[in-house]
Formats: sequence, structure tokens, C-alpha cells
Amino acid sequence: MNSIKIIETKDGSHSLLNEILNETYHSTHGAIQESRYVFIKNGLEYFLNENKTQSVNIFEVGLGTGLNVLLALEFATKNKIKIKYTSIEAFPVKKEIAGQLNYADLIFFSNGKTLFQEIHASPWEESIQINDFFCLKKTEQSIYEIELPNETFEIIFFDAFAPAKQPDMWKLSVLEKTVNALKPRGVFVTYCAKGQLKRDLKTLRLTVETLPGPPGKREMVRAVK
Ligand SMILES: C[S@@+](CC[C@H](N)C(=O)[O-])C[C@H]1O[C@@H](n2cnc3c(N)ncnc32)[C@H](O)[C@@H]1O
Repeated sequence: MNSIKIIETKDGSHSLLNEILNETYHSTHGAIQESRYVFIKNGLEYFLNENKTQSVNIFEVGLGTGLNVLLALEFATKNKIKIKYTSIEAFPVKKEIAGQLNYADLIFFSNGKTLFQEIHASPWEESIQINDFFCLKKTEQSIYEIELPNETFEIIFFDAFAPAKQPDMWKLSVLEKTVNALKPRGVFVTYCAKGQLKRDLKTLRLTVETLPGPPGKREMVRAVK
């Protein structure tokens, strides 16, 4: 997975194109717009509103550009919510590419620019306190190999490449692994709304909701354990 090119999406924010898979890391309709809507609004904000808590453990499948990390960090900092964020990535984005991404120019909060650099510069496999509210652990592993602790996370950001491009990432065994790592009442959220995904999440005894998608996409999925 070396052929990675920076592209601009319709909201002006960058994304990456994996030329081998011919797949982008985000919606071409707007990377920031999609990530904010799917993961922050319908995942993080939803969980906090439902559970009236000030601290949360998130597990992300697919660190990629670090956009979801930056948006969660922005949310934590602005709302004074404590977040422990663990993100798995099998094919880390190279530093030269990450350094050119324009997210920190478009997402404004305290020293967001420095913090975005820190997200990429921080060592793998260590829990790093990025600021008072946000602790990040990046793990360089494949989701197929990792052993996840049981009932540890309140939220899963499932942000794999689309099932049409990387079907194995959406297999029941992978979904089951992440769902096992979710606490009861925890939220699994993804931009994908395929029927098979919804059936699999129901098989895993989650309560599945189909929500309107971000601009340019019809639907997305949120499932609660
Ligand atoms: C849709 S992109 C993630 C976008 C990312 N969340 C962001 O904010 O930029 C999917 C990511 O999954 C990663 N990936 C692919 N296969 C994987 C695997 N077996 N285990 C973990 N991550 C994998 C890709 O390298 C890519 O970074």
C-alpha cells in the first residue's frame, strides 16, 4: 500500500487516494464534513448525551490520516471531556504525506496545529497524554492479528476501507472482535450502511440504527450493544 496521493475533497479538506485499491480515505464530498458527522456527532456526541459521562474510551479501526483523532481531540478540548483514544493502523501514512495535510488549517482550537503534528510524531504502542483531556495510543498492527481486551471501549469508530475494496475488514470475525471489546451500552459507528453489515451486527446482538448519511451519502450505521 505505497501508492498514496493527496487529493482535495469538496469541503476543501484533504484526503488520501490509495491508488492500488482506487479508494479514498474519506468521502470525496468532504472529508472533515463526513468525519465530523459520522464519528463525532453520531458516535461521540451521541454516546455522551445518552450516558451523561465526562470521560470515554474510544477504539478506532484505521488511524489513516489522523483526521478522526484530531476531531476527537478538538471535541475533548472544547468540551472538557476526557478521552482515551486507541487507534490501530496496519499501513501508517508516511510523515512527509501527513505533514502536507491541511486539517489543522481548517480545524481551529487552541494549538491544534502543533497537536496535529504531535498525533503523527507520537510513538507507537505507548499511551501519550496529548493535552489535559486527550490520551492517544497508536498501535501499528493489523486488526486481523490484534487481541483486544473484552468490554473495554465505550465507542468503536469503524473506519475501514469500503467492503467492496477490502471485504475481509468487514467479516463477521473482525466485527465480532471489535464488538467484544465494546462495553455494554457502547456504540459502534461507521459510514457504511450495507445490508450485510447490519445483519452481522444484529447477529452480534447489537441494536442497529440506519441514520441519514453525511452530504453525498444516503445512509450510515450506528449500533448499540
Ligand atoms: C478509510 S481509511 C481510515 C481513515 C482514517 N480514519 C482517517 O481519519 O484518515 C482505512 C484505514 O485502514 C487501514 N487498514 C487497512 N487494512 C488494515 C488492517 N488489516 N488493520 C488495520 N488497519 C488497516 C488503512 O491503511 C487505512 O489507513
